Amino acid sequence: MNQQLTAYVNGRFTPLEDATIHIEDRGFQFADGIYEVVACFAGTFLDLQPHLERLQRSCEGVRIPLPCSLEEMATLVQETYKRNPFEDAMVYIQITRGAAPRSHLPQGELTPTLIITSRNLPKPSDAKLASGVKAITLQDIRWKHCEIKSIALLASVLGKQEAALKNADEAFWLDEEAHVLEGCATNILAIIDGVLVTHPLDHQVLGGITRNMAIRVAKEHGLSVEERPWKLTESGLTEAMMSSTTNAVMPIYCINEQIIGDGKPGKTTMQIRGWMLEAMDALRRA
Ligand code: PDD
Repeated sequence: MNQQLTAYVNGRFTPLEDATIHIEDRGFQFADGIYEVVACFAGTFLDLQPHLERLQRSCEGVRIPLPCSLEEMATLVQETYKRNPFEDAMVYIQITRGAAPRSHLPQGELTPTLIITSRNLPKPSDAKLASGVKAITLQDIRWKHCEIKSIALLASVLGKQEAALKNADEAFWLDEEAHVLEGCATNILAIIDGVLVTHPLDHQVLGGITRNMAIRVAKEHGLSVEERPWKLTESGLTEAMMSSTTNAVMPIYCINEQIIGDGKPGKTTMQIRGWMLEAMDALRRA
């Protein structure tokens, strides 16, 4: 399709290059907003309802009123996709508290800003999939509400820069006891003694929709799953993978120069990825 993208901004569809927001939007001035990223395969969304429910929880978490009902949001998301109908699409939804003269305390009743865009879902390269990715770890410097999908992503931007400087694709945050929490834009799961292990859902990690999908397909295929704090030093660690809407699961072969398993994409990781891709193909045929 031609690359002229159409965005939804506060009740109107407009060419992306003409889409603008007020300079006193609180999203711009305070990162006072939340967002979602949803994948769509040949017109069928993957887990749209869980994404919208997380959007609602994020809004509640920062006391921004939802600008419309979840049903209306689903319609707007579908409408935005239809105007940018990529075979594999990534729909971005952002809600901020709205525009007002700059004051930390929000004054009066503000009208939330809602924007939605749809663009091509980037595909991980075959080379990356064949080798897996390299990652680093960093001490967690983020705020204490990572379960909220906040647009305040400066720590994640710095983490990604730090990773790139070391030729790595992702940085994973560690808590004070060196438990592995999640990445700058991904969750992380490991195979430890044959069990799929990932940090439990709490304020230190985002409840990734893809993380849930990985857990779901693993259980469906008889794998054991444990949601518990874990460390890179555990002796039974043989595989690691990161999950996100844009990656499904992606194998990790090296973290901080520590080679994971035999340094190749893990067998179980690739099985989980295969099961997830089958589910995505089923959506394409739906
Ligand atoms: N990021 N953890 C963090 C900190 C994230 O930013 C993301 C997603 C995830 C994975 O969530 P999900 O499986 O629901 O995509 C975990 C999105 C894709 C982004 O910021 O672009």
